[in-house]
Amino acid sequence: MEIEKELAARLAAVERVVAFTGAGVSRESGLATFRDAEGLWKRFRPEELATPEAFAAHPRRVWRWYASRFAQVEAAEPNPAHRAIARSQALFPSWVVVTQNVDGLHARAGSRDPLELHGTVTRARCSHCGARSPMAAAVAASPDEPPVCACGGRLRPDVVWFGEMLPEDVLARAVVAVERCDLLISVGTSARVFPAAGLIEQAHRGGALVVEVNPEETGFSHLADLRLQAPAGEALPPFLERLEELRGEGRG
Ligand code: OAD
Repeated sequence: MEIEKELAARLAAVERVVAFTGAGVSRESGLATFRDAEGLWKRFRPEELATPEAFAAHPRRVWRWYASRFAQVEAAEPNPAHRAIARSQALFPSWVVVTQNVDGLHARAGSRDPLELHGTVTRARCSHCGARSPMAAAVAASPDEPPVCACGGRLRPDVVWFGEMLPEDVLARAVVAVERCDLLISVGTSARVFPAAGLIEQAHRGGALVVEVNPEETGFSHLADLRLQAPAGEALPPFLERLEELRGEGRG
């Protein structure tokens, strides 16, 4: 892969990386994104499915929708982009995966401790006491309506809904990783949901290189030092291989 000389020299010196991902990184695993033509928010209304108010008013509808998304996630496999990220993570002194995705595919591809900013559909959480449990068991026990916790509360998916705060500790760790990184690779996100999307600008302001992998232009494309306008499964593995080579050459 050809990279212009000055940028290559900067990439060769990279030590601390953040891979910041969105739904596009899982597109080639067969999972829908949110805002593309076939995206979930083009087919469903988020206010009817992804808010605490929707769950209070229509718990069965919301539970069934997440049970079906969980089934899709379970049937999906990590793709070459997830696997390339996991492989590279092992080679750099610091490599933090920060994802907006709730599908658990980074962990299944072997990424260590991905920071899941929007939670995960692979877990259920009691809406009263907060106790967490595997989604598989919750759905098996009660596919059509939210199971009831030992405390009497209703179980819900352990995801962040519109109008809710991101998990504070996870966001704080992501912010620290972004502040310290010298390269942020943004993969498959339209970067329209804040505060997550703000991490790209924060990395750029802090002097980090920004690489964007997305077939489409986004609101942050203008900040990118390098844009790979192609599907992640095609563009990311060769880029990460080149990054590793440059790093090796830089040290050799
Ligand atoms: P979006 O659906 O907003 O954006 C997906 C992005 O992936 C778009 O920019 C596409 O161009 C790009 N894309 C599509 N196919 C791709 C591929 N094969 N390779 C690389 N990129 C591809 O999804 P997100 O940015 O993840 O929040 O959305 C952010 C948040 O909005 C989600 O976490 C979710 C949603 O509401 C919550 O549920 C809280």
